[in-house]
Amino acid sequence: MTNKAKFQHWALNLDKDNLAWLCFDKHESSANVLSASVLEEFASIVEQLQLNLPDGLIIYSGKKNGFIMGADIKEFTKINSEEEAYTLIRQGQKVLDALEALACPTLSVINGYTLGGGLELAMACNYRIAINSDKPVIGLPEVQLGLHPGFGGTVRAVKIAGVRAAMKLMLTGKPIRVKAAKNNGLVDQLCSDEEWQNQARAMIKSKPKQATAPLIEKLLNLPFLRGFIAKTLIKQVSSKANKNHYPAPYAMIGLWQKHGASTTNGYKAEARSMAKLMCGSTSRNLIRVFFLQNKLKSQFPASDTNIKNIHVIGAGIMGGDIASWCALKGFNVTLQDRSTEDIAPALKRAEKLFAKKIRDNSLLEKTRSRLSEDLLGDGVANADLIIEAIYENLEAKKELYKKIETNMKSTAVLATNTSSILLEDLRVDLKQPEKFIGLHFFNPVSQLPLVEIISCNDTDGDTLQTGFNFVKKIGKSPLLCKSSEGFIVNRILAPYMAEAMHLSEEGMASIDIDKVAVNFGMPMGPVELVDTVGIDVALNVSKVLGKAFNRPIPKKLIDMVENNELGKKTGKGFYDWTFDGVSKPNATADETALIPDDAEDRLILPMLNEAVACLEEGIVLDSDMLDIGVIFGTGFAPFHGGPIQYAKERGLENIMMAFAKLEAKHGSRFKAHSGWLKLTK
Ligand code: NAI
Repeated sequence: MTNKAKFQHWALNLDKDNLAWLCFDKHESSANVLSASVLEEFASIVEQLQLNLPDGLIIYSGKKNGFIMGADIKEFTKINSEEEAYTLIRQGQKVLDALEALACPTLSVINGYTLGGGLELAMACNYRIAINSDKPVIGLPEVQLGLHPGFGGTVRAVKIAGVRAAMKLMLTGKPIRVKAAKNNGLVDQLCSDEEWQNQARAMIKSKPKQATAPLIEKLLNLPFLRGFIAKTLIKQVSSKANKNHYPAPYAMIGLWQKHGASTTNGYKAEARSMAKLMCGSTSRNLIRVFFLQNKLKSQFPASDTNIKNIHVIGAGIMGGDIASWCALKGFNVTLQDRSTEDIAPALKRAEKLFAKKIRDNSLLEKTRSRLSEDLLGDGVANADLIIEAIYENLEAKKELYKKIETNMKSTAVLATNTSSILLEDLRVDLKQPEKFIGLHFFNPVSQLPLVEIISCNDTDGDTLQTGFNFVKKIGKSPLLCKSSEGFIVNRILAPYMAEAMHLSEEGMASIDIDKVAVNFGMPMGPVELVDTVGIDVALNVSKVLGKAFNRPIPKKLIDMVENNELGKKTGKGFYDWTFDGVSKPNATADETALIPDDAEDRLILPMLNEAVACLEEGIVLDSDMLDIGVIFGTGFAPFHGGPIQYAKERGLENIMMAFAKLEAKHGSRFKAHSGWLKLTK
C-alpha cells in the first residue's frame, strides 16, 4: 500500500488499486470508542476523501477485541443542557451522513464487538462484512443506559433490517451473533480472519446491490400500518418497563411511528429525542450505575486468582448452587453434605444449569466432571477455598470448623455464606481467625450478581484479595462489607419487609403493597420477596436484626413459621403458590381498596434510613459503593441510582420532612437517622 496518512486515532492508506484502507485504532485506549476527538478526525478524513475520491473505502479496526464499542459514554456525563446535547448529536449524525454520501463504495469490517455508535457507523457504509464468530457482538444496547441510538441508528437500522428486527435489536439492547446479523441484512457477508482483506476488496470492486429491508417490512413501514405495530410494540415493552421509569423504548417506538424511519425528518427528531433522554434523570442514573460497576470491581488491585480447587460444605439451596456455579466457571469443586440424599437435589439442579448454559457437548462433559459429590469431606485437604453453607446455626458452624481446620492446607481460605451471624462469633475457636471471611451469596445464585465479602477489623489483606479475585473470576460483583448484623443487603431489606408487615396488619392487601413497591421501581414487592426468600429465613434475619437494633419481630412471621407456611417453598406464605401448579400468586387486587397516600414512603424511606446508618457505621466504603451494592443486591430501582442518589435527587430537605411526617403519624420507627445531618450539610 502507498500514500500513508496518519492521524492520532486513524491511519489512512491508499493502495495501488486506489482503494482507501482506513484503520481505527483509538490512541492510548484498549478499545475503540467514538469520542469527540475521534469523530473530529473522522470528519476531516471523510472530507479529504470527498476531495480526492478513492475507488472505494474500507474501514477496519486496529484492535483485536472488536470494531467499535460505541460512543464514549464518559463524555455524556459532561453535557450540561439539552441544547448542547442536541448540537453534539447532530454533529455526529452529519459525519455519518457525509460518510454515507461519499461517491465511492464504502465498507466496514466487523471483527467482533460492533455496538451502538459502532454499528451506526457501519450502517452508514454501503456494505458490511463480518469475521465469523459465535459470540453475540453486534448490537444497539443504548436502551440499557436509558437512551436510544443517536447517530441515525433508529432510521438506518429500520431501513436495512426492517422494523421488526431493528426494533428487537434496539428495544432489547441485546447484541446478536454475526450469523443472525447476516440473516437480517446488517451484515452482507461473513469471512474468515485470514480472508477479510480479499473479500472486502472483491466486494468493493463488484459493487453488489446494497442490503435493504424485505418488501413486507417496507409495507409495515407505511403510515396506516405503523399505528397498529406501534401499539403491539408498546404492549410488549410495557410488560417489562414502566414508561415513567424507562422512557427510552417508548421514545424509540414513538419516533418510528411518527417519522417511519424517514431520512428527511427522522435524524433531527432522533437527535432531539436523544438529547432529552441524555439529560433526563433515568439515563444519568443508569450511566452512573454503569461506571459504579467498574468501581465495584476495582476496589482491590487487579490480580489473578490462585484458587483451583473449591470445597463446599452444605449442599442445600445455597451451597448446592454455589458449587455448580463455581464448576461452571472452571473450578474443580467437591460438594459435601451429610448424606447422598442431601446432595442429590443439588446435583440435579447443577445438571439443569449446565444444560442451560453450555451448548457444546464436550464442554458440558468437562464441566460435569469438575463437580463431584464428597460425603467424607476428602476435598478439604486439597482445597484452596472452602465455602461453608450449612444451616444458619452458630454452634453447628463452629463445630464444623473445628473438624476441618486441621485438615486444611495452610494457604487455604475458609469462608462462610452465613446471612446473619457475626463473623467475630463464628471465628472464636479458629487458629487463624484473621484468615476467615464471609462470602455472602444471594438466592438464586445463578441470577443475582452480588456477593458481599465480609471482613472483621483485623482480617488479613491477602485473604480479602483472594476472596475478591475469586468473586470476580466467577463473574460476580464483590461488595466489601464490615462484619455487622445483616451486613448491607439484608440490613437494608429488613425494615422494608417489616413495614410491609405493618401495612398488611393494617389490612392492606398483599398485592397492593407489592404494587406500590413495583410502581416505585423495585423488581418485586416486599411481600412476594418475603415469600420467595422464605418466611423462616426472613424470621431469622428479623430476630438477629431485632436483637441488634432493638426492634420488634413481626408476630405474623412467627405464626406463619409455626404453621409451616414458609412461602414459595411450602406452597403457602402470604400468597398461595400452588395455583395451577405455577409459582405465581393467585391473590387479586381489590380495585376499590384504598391505598394510603404515604404507603410508598413507608416502604422506601426505611431502606434509605438504614442505608445512611450503614454509611455512618462504616460498614461500606462510601455512598457510591452503597448505591451500587444495594442496586445489585436488592434490585433497588436502578433508574433512581440507588438509595443515597435517590435521596439526593429528591432533595434531602424533602426527605427529612417526609420522615418527620411519618414519625408523627406512625411512631418512632420512622425517626430519621442522625447520619442524615452529615449528608444534608
Ligand atoms: P439449607 O437448609 O437449604 O441447606 C443446608 C444444608 O447443610 C443441608 O443440606 C444440610 O444437610 C447441610 N448440613 C447441615 N449441617 C451439616 C454438616 N455438619 N456437614 C455437612 N452438611 C451439613 O440452607 P441454605 O438456605 O442453603 O442456607 C445455608 C447457609 O446460607 C446459611 O448460613 C444461610 O444463612 C445462608 N444463606 C441463605 C440464603 C437463602 O436464601 N436461603 C441466602 C444467603 C445466605
